[in-house]
Amino acid sequence: MVNVSFCRLGRIIPEPFAGYILPYVRKMIARTDGAVPCTVLGAIWNGLACAAAVVTWNEEESVGELRSLFVDPKARGCGIAGRMLDLLLEEAANRGMDEVVFDYVLNGEELAAMDALVARRGGTASTAAPICGMRSDDFLDSPLIGPALRPGWKRDKSILLFSELTQQQRESLESAERLPAFLRPSAMGERLDPTLSAAWVADGRPVAFTLGFQSGDRMFCQSSSWRAPGAPEGSFRALICTQVNQCWYRSGGSFVFFISPIHPRSAAMAEWFTGGNYEPYTQREAAITVRAGA
Ligand SMILES: CC(C)(COP(=O)(O)OP(=O)(O)OC[C@H]1O[C@@H](n2cnc3c(N)ncnc32)[C@H](O)[C@@H]1OP(=O)(O)O)[C@@H](O)C(=O)NCCC(=O)NCCS
Repeated sequence: MVNVSFCRLGRIIPEPFAGYILPYVRKMIARTDGAVPCTVLGAIWNGLACAAAVVTWNEEESVGELRSLFVDPKARGCGIAGRMLDLLLEEAANRGMDEVVFDYVLNGEELAAMDALVARRGGTASTAAPICGMRSDDFLDSPLIGPALRPGWKRDKSILLFSELTQQQRESLESAERLPAFLRPSAMGERLDPTLSAAWVADGRPVAFTLGFQSGDRMFCQSSSWRAPGAPEGSFRALICTQVNQCWYRSGGSFVFFISPIHPRSAAMAEWFTGGNYEPYTQREAAITVRAGA
């Protein structure tokens, strides 16, 4: 293995490592101020930060949840992720945890590497669902959403980002008629990114929305969407345009946009937006049993 050292980081993650941790995870651990025990590990190669990982510890259920694991593309394939995972499993054993769980949405070599990381440690990885990954470069020419990736595009005046909704407007969504509980914004918990989620507001009330979060480096996931029966035709497309426009600004260029498996028509939606130009990704839910004295 290459000459890499590992360090523990505090809740406020220093800049060279911050870029390797998902933004919502960073915010969550900074905000909870000790209420949620966590471990943040960084890896240093030749004096440079090259990877980071975050686990939160659910002491009541004796489960560690790996919230973020990312190795710089230049440092991959050298065993760094494996070493970090082993250190975290050691700590899990010291804390008396039964297992460490995590989920990931990847494809190609990264999926193979993550699957190998789990299998090598005796873990299981079940496939939650196939996911459609749309590359922003591929939908630049889409007449439906391409315009939202060009400078000068403006969102419809009826659309507000979740960060712009009032508390009352957000609460009204939690009790909206015919909105199933699993689609409600609260069902997404900490993951919901208020600047990647948008609502169509008519007469002061949100009547349609799309929710999103960042799932990886330049990877964004639409986790759920909903339209009340009275929401105008076209509101849904306008919301997706707003969401991809926000992803574009956040990533500063190319990104992958995932359509969530929760939506029963996800493949049809990807087809509609891209004319069939999308890649299959896989979502897995993994669990590794912690061995005492690991
Ligand atoms: C997945 C990822 C963490 C792997 O990091 P890494 O440091 O390259 O991983 P390692 O070098 O420790 O290799 C892990 C295992 O995968 C195996 N592997 C690597 N590439 C592989 C491939 N293409 N096919 C099969 N196995 C592969 C390695 O042999 C190793 O297994 P071993 O320990 O049995 O030898 C890295 O690719 C990454 O950060 N991807 C992005 C993940 C992401 O988006 N995270 C954000 C959301 S949490």
